[in-house]
Amino acid sequence: MSPETTRVTTAVFRDMKRRGVKISMLTAYDYPTAFLLDQSGIDALLVGDSLGMVVLGYATTLPVTMDEMIHHTKAVCRGVQRAMVIGDMPFMSYQVSVEDALRNAGRFLKETDAQAVKLEGGREVAEAIRRMTACGIPVMGHLGLTPQSIQQFGGFKVQGRGDEAARRIIEDARIIEEAGAFSLVLECVPADVAGEITRSLGIATIGIGAGADCDGQVLVTNDMLGTFERFTPRFVKKYADFAPQMREAVRRYAEEVRSGAFPGKEHSF
Ligand code: KIV
Repeated sequence: MSPETTRVTTAVFRDMKRRGVKISMLTAYDYPTAFLLDQSGIDALLVGDSLGMVVLGYATTLPVTMDEMIHHTKAVCRGVQRAMVIGDMPFMSYQVSVEDALRNAGRFLKETDAQAVKLEGGREVAEAIRRMTACGIPVMGHLGLTPQSIQQFGGFKVQGRGDEAARRIIEDARIIEEAGAFSLVLECVPADVAGEITRSLGIATIGIGAGADCDGQVLVTNDMLGTFERFTPRFVKKYADFAPQMREAVRRYAEEVRSGAFPGKEHSF
């Protein structure tokens, strides 16, 4: 590994927060995408359970299993040299008991080359975070619109609006930090609340729909590259619009196969 490819670790996250250097994070679910994103200088890759929606075609993230997460995390790790890889703990892999949570978090570090795990929730997951970090498993928290609680929220809605909800989320953030998390995702939280949390914590906050004051930003790669068209949340900025280009490329290929224009002499032996 050359100096430019020195691995991003939890210590690097801490240092970036201290120096005010913003952290860039995207999701990845497969080897070729992880390879390209890592080469492009992304700081962290989250193998998100958004896998269920943008890759596996489920309506929510709830059906995703540990085995699916391990399978995709292994593929991502094979493509990465520099970025930190974080495996997302799927629904019901950490909620039933702390023992379950520990065993499943351990699978990410034992069976893949992921450096950390992420889990959703506030005070109710603090004990699990405490046990994981005590065992040497770095944990990223996730507060706000936590998609595994979508049935309880009744839809994809901004969380932490109003004094009482804001106070609770700010308290939860402090509890997650005290439990030992090295970083915290804030999803769909009012920008002023996310800013207050970011200023009050020593660990890095990573925002998604949480304004510009977070220590870093994360987006779902398929959203920002325009390859997932079912819906696009308001907080997404599309940096490319590849779906129409993919359709056009495939249309031309199919047409050329039908017409005999492909393969040409140069593609034949
Ligand atoms: O699963 C996921 O992709 C996530 C990010 C959106 C933070 O949790």
